[in-house]
Amino acid sequence: MIRTILAATLATGLAATAARADVNVYSYRQPELLKPLTDAFTAETGIAVHVVFLKTGLVERLAAEGSRSPADVVMTVDISRLAALADAGVVQPVSSPVIEANIPPEFRDPDGLWFGLTARARVVYASRERVADGEVTTYEALADPKWRGRICSRSGTHVYTLGLISAMIAHHGIEATETWLAGLKANLARKPQGNDRAQVKAIWAGECDISLGNTYYMGLMLRDPEQREWAESVRIVFPVFEGGGTHVNISGMAMTRAAPNRADALRFMEWLSSPRAQEIYAEVNHEYPLLPGTRPSELVRSWGSFTPDSLPLAEIARHRAEALRLVERVDFDG
Ligand SMILES: [Fe+2]
Repeated sequence: MIRTILAATLATGLAATAARADVNVYSYRQPELLKPLTDAFTAETGIAVHVVFLKTGLVERLAAEGSRSPADVVMTVDISRLAALADAGVVQPVSSPVIEANIPPEFRDPDGLWFGLTARARVVYASRERVADGEVTTYEALADPKWRGRICSRSGTHVYTLGLISAMIAHHGIEATETWLAGLKANLARKPQGNDRAQVKAIWAGECDISLGNTYYMGLMLRDPEQREWAESVRIVFPVFEGGGTHVNISGMAMTRAAPNRADALRFMEWLSSPRAQEIYAEVNHEYPLLPGTRPSELVRSWGSFTPDSLPLAEIARHRAEALRLVERVDFDG
């Protein structure tokens, strides 16, 4: 008797799960970054969005769940992670005139396997006291001996560093990039360590004069009582590649291969690509919306304007393995 009731309850529970016509998201992004978006989407469409926040193992989890995965949409950051989803075959191509009109081609996969939603620039944080206006120009010039002992950096193997090195390879080739990376290493004030904010703290403490970091960390530091001082000791400078623009990376989305609620998932993705959603999403993490004509927040605008590098992110992602080999060859972290 008890067994029968249990079985019936289980069956009902499973049926209810399977029939739920909502959108399920696996996210590497923190829940508070997604909430303003999912709330606005649900208010507009009546479609609920359930977010499962993951710290690691997204690709492995989707691969293990296979066709039984409840996930419809993946949201993450960095071109390397988006490219890894595509390489692992756990996402499916999406073709949508709406998304294609909202997201410029250099910020999406040519086959529709992933799409950017917002951008962050990889910029120089420069000491207000010890670096003059106009002193920082190009990424290439960071290898100039004038910076000897004056640069702080996070690990060369971190995805943010690898993205920049990959872009350098795409612009100038492997040999020139190896020379540049060795020059950059020779200019370091200390062994690579810590995250982007730790480099700014080191500038504040007088250990070095410039570092590389993502733009949104300025916003995050200003909001933190302890870190505010670090932020106020530096200013953001937008370097460019010789013959190009400022290096950017993206936060993005993809549709899972299994996607049980494909129609609603597509509706969600199209909505996420809309100018309004790009602006909401960019605002919560101090990022840049991708569609020309959309605007970042007032704080982000106060950092100045820049020209994003025009290399497609898909092209940059192709050089990632070579970038990692160069980091090892010049012993960047050693
Ligand atoms: Fe970050």
